[in-house]
Amino acid sequence: MRKLLQLPSSFLFTGTGGGVLHGSTCEAAVCVFAVARDKALKELGGWENITKLVVYASDQTHFTFQKAAKLVGIPSSNFRFIETSFSTGFSTSPEKLRIAIDDDMKSDLVPLFLCATVGTTPTGAIDPIMELNKVAMEFKLWLHIDAAYAGVRAFVLSSAIIWMEHGLANLMYHIQSDIAMAKCFEAFVRKDERFEMVVPRKFALVCFRLKPKVEDDDEAMN
Ligand SMILES: Cc1ncc(COP(=O)(O)O)c(C=O)c1O
Repeated sequence: MRKLLQLPSSFLFTGTGGGVLHGSTCEAAVCVFAVARDKALKELGGWENITKLVVYASDQTHFTFQKAAKLVGIPSSNFRFIETSFSTGFSTSPEKLRIAIDDDMKSDLVPLFLCATVGTTPTGAIDPIMELNKVAMEFKLWLHIDAAYAGVRAFVLSSAIIWMEHGLANLMYHIQSDIAMAKCFEAFVRKDERFEMVVPRKFALVCFRLKPKVEDDDEAMN
Protein backbone atom coordinates (compact mmCIF):
# COMPACT_ATOMS: atom_id res chain seq x y z
CA MET A 1 0.00 0.00 0.00
CA ARG A 2 2.76 2.42 0.92
CA LYS A 3 4.53 1.74 -2.39
CA LEU A 4 1.25 2.16 -4.22
CA LEU A 5 0.86 5.58 -2.63
CA GLN A 6 4.48 6.45 -3.49
CA LEU A 7 5.33 7.36 0.09
CA PRO A 8 8.99 8.14 0.88
CA SER A 9 11.16 5.16 1.85
CA SER A 10 11.14 6.34 5.47
CA PHE A 11 7.53 5.09 5.59
CA LEU A 12 8.53 1.55 4.56
CA PHE A 13 9.49 -1.39 6.79
CA THR A 14 12.80 -1.40 4.90
CA GLY A 15 13.34 2.22 6.00
CA THR A 16 12.54 3.62 9.43
CA GLY A 17 8.80 3.08 9.05
CA GLY A 18 6.34 0.25 9.23
CA GLY A 19 2.80 0.07 10.50
CA VAL A 20 -0.44 -1.82 10.48
CA LEU A 21 -3.84 -1.42 8.88
CA HIS A 22 -6.58 -0.82 11.45
CA GLY A 23 -10.26 -1.54 11.08
CA SER A 24 -11.33 1.96 12.13
CA THR A 25 -10.01 5.37 13.11
CA CYS A 26 -11.05 4.72 16.71
CA GLU A 27 -8.79 1.68 16.92
CA ALA A 28 -5.89 3.56 15.35
CA ALA A 29 -6.40 6.46 17.78
CA VAL A 30 -6.21 4.20 20.85
CA CYS A 31 -2.98 2.66 19.55
CA VAL A 32 -1.25 5.95 18.78
CA PHE A 33 -2.27 7.41 22.14
CA ALA A 34 -0.91 4.33 23.92
CA VAL A 35 2.43 4.63 22.11
CA ALA A 36 2.71 8.38 22.72
CA ARG A 37 1.72 7.92 26.40
CA ASP A 38 4.24 5.11 27.02
CA LYS A 39 7.08 7.01 25.38
CA ALA A 40 6.32 10.15 27.41
CA LEU A 41 5.89 8.29 30.72
CA LYS A 42 9.20 6.50 30.21
CA GLU A 43 10.91 9.86 29.74
CA LEU A 44 9.07 11.38 32.72
CA GLY A 45 10.05 8.49 34.95
CA GLY A 46 6.83 6.64 35.73
CA TRP A 47 3.10 6.09 35.48
CA GLU A 48 2.26 8.51 38.29
CA ASN A 49 2.93 11.29 35.74
CA ILE A 50 -0.02 10.34 33.55
CA THR A 51 -2.16 13.13 35.00
CA LYS A 52 0.36 15.66 33.63
CA LEU A 53 -0.05 14.65 29.97
CA VAL A 54 -2.08 17.05 27.82
CA VAL A 55 -3.76 16.50 24.45
CA TYR A 56 -4.62 19.29 21.98
CA ALA A 57 -7.25 19.19 19.27
CA SER A 58 -9.70 21.63 17.78
CA ASP A 59 -13.36 21.90 18.71
CA GLN A 60 -14.02 20.30 15.29
CA THR A 61 -11.97 17.17 15.97
CA HIS A 62 -13.83 13.88 15.80
CA PHE A 63 -15.06 12.70 19.22
CA THR A 64 -13.13 9.48 18.74
CA PHE A 65 -9.92 11.19 19.91
CA GLN A 66 -11.42 12.30 23.21
CA LYS A 67 -12.64 8.78 23.84
CA ALA A 68 -9.30 7.25 22.86
CA ALA A 69 -7.36 9.61 25.15
CA LYS A 70 -9.67 8.68 28.02
CA LEU A 71 -9.30 4.97 27.28
CA VAL A 72 -5.52 5.13 27.65
CA GLY A 73 -5.89 6.89 31.00
CA ILE A 74 -5.34 10.55 30.12
CA PRO A 75 -7.76 12.60 32.26
CA SER A 76 -10.59 14.24 30.29
CA SER A 77 -9.69 17.53 31.99
CA ASN A 78 -6.35 17.36 30.14
CA PHE A 79 -7.98 17.42 26.71
CA ARG A 80 -7.77 20.95 25.26
CA PHE A 81 -10.18 22.06 22.57
CA ILE A 82 -8.72 24.87 20.49
CA GLU A 83 -11.62 27.09 19.53
CA THR A 84 -12.23 27.55 15.80
CA SER A 85 -14.37 30.07 13.94
CA PHE A 86 -16.11 30.73 10.67
CA SER A 87 -13.53 33.39 9.71
CA THR A 88 -10.76 30.78 9.45
CA GLY A 89 -12.93 28.10 7.87
CA PHE A 90 -13.03 26.26 11.23
CA SER A 91 -9.36 25.31 11.00
CA THR A 92 -7.04 25.09 14.02
CA SER A 93 -5.11 28.26 14.79
CA PRO A 94 -1.39 27.63 15.45
CA GLU A 95 -1.32 30.83 17.56
CA LYS A 96 -4.15 29.66 19.82
CA LEU A 97 -2.46 26.29 20.10
CA ARG A 98 0.76 27.93 21.21
CA ILE A 99 -1.08 29.99 23.84
CA ALA A 100 -2.75 26.83 25.23
CA ILE A 101 0.60 25.01 25.36
CA ASP A 102 2.30 27.93 27.10
CA ASP A 103 -0.48 28.05 29.71
CA ASP A 104 -0.16 24.34 30.41
CA MET A 105 3.60 24.48 30.71
CA LYS A 106 3.27 27.29 33.24
CA SER A 107 1.04 24.93 35.25
CA ASP A 108 3.76 22.25 35.15
CA LEU A 109 1.80 20.06 32.74
CA VAL A 110 3.38 18.15 29.84
CA PRO A 111 2.08 18.81 26.30
CA LEU A 112 1.90 15.38 24.69
CA PHE A 113 -0.24 15.09 21.60
CA LEU A 114 -1.73 17.23 18.86
CA CYS A 115 -4.48 15.97 16.64
CA ALA A 116 -4.80 17.88 13.36
CA THR A 117 -7.46 17.04 10.80
CA VAL A 118 -7.58 17.16 7.02
CA GLY A 119 -11.32 17.24 6.36
CA THR A 120 -13.18 17.51 9.67
CA THR A 121 -16.47 15.67 10.04
CA PRO A 122 -18.76 18.68 10.71
CA THR A 123 -17.50 21.12 8.05
CA GLY A 124 -14.67 19.51 6.07
CA ALA A 125 -12.18 22.01 7.56
CA ILE A 126 -8.52 21.56 6.72
CA ASP A 127 -5.99 22.34 9.43
CA PRO A 128 -2.76 24.17 8.46
CA ILE A 129 -0.55 21.11 8.81
CA MET A 130 2.81 22.76 8.07
CA GLU A 131 2.29 25.54 10.64
CA LEU A 132 0.94 23.14 13.24
CA ASN A 133 3.89 20.85 12.58
CA LYS A 134 6.26 23.72 13.41
CA VAL A 135 4.58 24.17 16.80
CA ALA A 136 4.57 20.40 17.35
CA MET A 137 8.30 20.17 16.60
CA GLU A 138 9.07 23.12 18.87
CA PHE A 139 7.30 21.56 21.85
CA LYS A 140 8.08 17.93 20.91
CA LEU A 141 4.41 17.06 20.55
CA TRP A 142 3.27 13.87 18.90
CA LEU A 143 1.49 15.09 15.75
CA HIS A 144 -1.35 12.92 14.54
CA ILE A 145 -3.10 13.79 11.28
CA ASP A 146 -6.65 12.52 11.03
CA ALA A 147 -7.52 12.18 7.36
CA ALA A 148 -10.22 9.56 7.92
CA TYR A 149 -12.58 11.32 5.55
CA ALA A 150 -10.66 13.50 3.09
CA GLY A 151 -7.43 11.52 3.05
CA VAL A 152 -8.74 8.79 0.82
CA ARG A 153 -9.79 11.32 -1.77
CA ALA A 154 -6.45 13.15 -1.65
CA PHE A 155 -4.47 9.93 -2.01
CA VAL A 156 -6.56 8.47 -4.77
CA LEU A 157 -6.79 11.61 -6.87
CA SER A 158 -3.19 12.72 -6.41
CA SER A 159 -1.95 9.28 -7.43
CA ALA A 160 -4.52 8.91 -10.19
CA ILE A 161 -2.25 7.25 -12.75
CA ILE A 162 -0.89 4.69 -10.31
CA TRP A 163 -4.37 3.83 -9.11
CA MET A 164 -5.51 3.40 -12.71
CA GLU A 165 -2.57 1.08 -13.39
CA HIS A 166 -3.59 -1.03 -10.45
CA GLY A 167 -7.14 -1.38 -11.68
CA LEU A 168 -8.60 0.86 -9.02
CA ALA A 169 -10.30 3.14 -11.50
CA ASN A 170 -13.66 2.30 -9.97
CA LEU A 171 -12.65 3.72 -6.62
CA MET A 172 -11.52 6.92 -8.31
CA TYR A 173 -14.73 7.09 -10.30
CA HIS A 174 -16.76 6.58 -7.13
CA ILE A 175 -15.01 9.43 -5.29
CA GLN A 176 -15.19 11.78 -8.27
CA SER A 177 -18.87 11.10 -8.84
CA ASP A 178 -19.61 11.73 -5.12
CA ILE A 179 -17.86 15.10 -5.41
CA ALA A 180 -19.76 15.91 -8.60
CA MET A 181 -23.04 15.05 -6.86
CA ALA A 182 -22.11 17.27 -3.91
CA LYS A 183 -21.34 20.17 -6.30
CA CYS A 184 -24.72 19.70 -7.93
CA PHE A 185 -26.49 19.60 -4.56
CA GLU A 186 -24.61 22.71 -3.42
CA ALA A 187 -25.94 24.54 -6.48
CA PHE A 188 -29.51 23.52 -5.56
CA VAL A 189 -29.04 24.80 -2.00
CA ARG A 190 -27.60 28.10 -3.19
CA LYS A 191 -30.58 28.63 -5.51
CA ASP A 192 -33.18 27.88 -2.82
CA GLU A 193 -34.06 30.91 -0.68
CA ARG A 194 -35.13 28.76 2.27
CA PHE A 195 -31.59 27.48 2.85
CA GLU A 196 -28.06 28.78 3.15
CA MET A 197 -24.61 27.19 3.07
CA VAL A 198 -22.91 27.23 6.50
CA VAL A 199 -19.43 26.88 5.00
CA PRO A 200 -18.42 26.43 1.35
CA ARG A 201 -18.58 22.83 0.15
CA LYS A 202 -15.43 20.79 0.81
CA PHE A 203 -14.88 17.53 -1.08
CA ALA A 204 -18.25 15.75 -1.01
CA LEU A 205 -19.47 17.46 2.17
CA VAL A 206 -22.28 20.01 1.84
CA CYS A 207 -23.00 21.77 5.11
CA PHE A 208 -26.23 23.79 4.94
CA ARG A 209 -29.07 24.97 7.15
CA LEU A 210 -32.47 26.69 7.12
CA LYS A 211 -32.05 30.45 6.76
CA PRO A 212 -33.02 32.21 10.00
CA LYS A 213 -36.17 34.33 9.51
CA VAL A 214 -35.06 36.87 12.09
CA GLU A 215 -31.57 37.54 13.37
CA ASP A 216 -32.37 36.13 16.82
CA ASP A 217 -33.00 32.72 15.29
CA ASP A 218 -29.39 32.43 14.21
CA GLU A 219 -28.25 30.10 17.00
CA ALA A 220 -31.49 28.12 16.93
CA MET A 221 -30.89 27.28 13.27
CA ASN A 222 -27.60 25.58 14.17
C1 LIG B 1 -12.52 13.02 10.26
C2 LIG B 1 -12.98 11.76 10.92
N1 LIG B 1 -12.22 11.23 11.91
C3 LIG B 1 -12.59 10.10 12.55
C4 LIG B 1 -13.73 9.42 12.21
C5 LIG B 1 -14.08 8.15 12.93
O1 LIG B 1 -13.85 7.10 12.07
P1 LIG B 1 -14.14 5.58 12.45
O2 LIG B 1 -15.60 5.40 12.38
O3 LIG B 1 -13.39 4.82 11.37
O4 LIG B 1 -13.58 5.29 13.80
C6 LIG B 1 -14.56 9.92 11.18
C7 LIG B 1 -15.80 9.26 10.82
O5 LIG B 1 -16.68 9.80 10.19
C8 LIG B 1 -14.17 11.12 10.52
O6 LIG B 1 -14.91 11.68 9.56
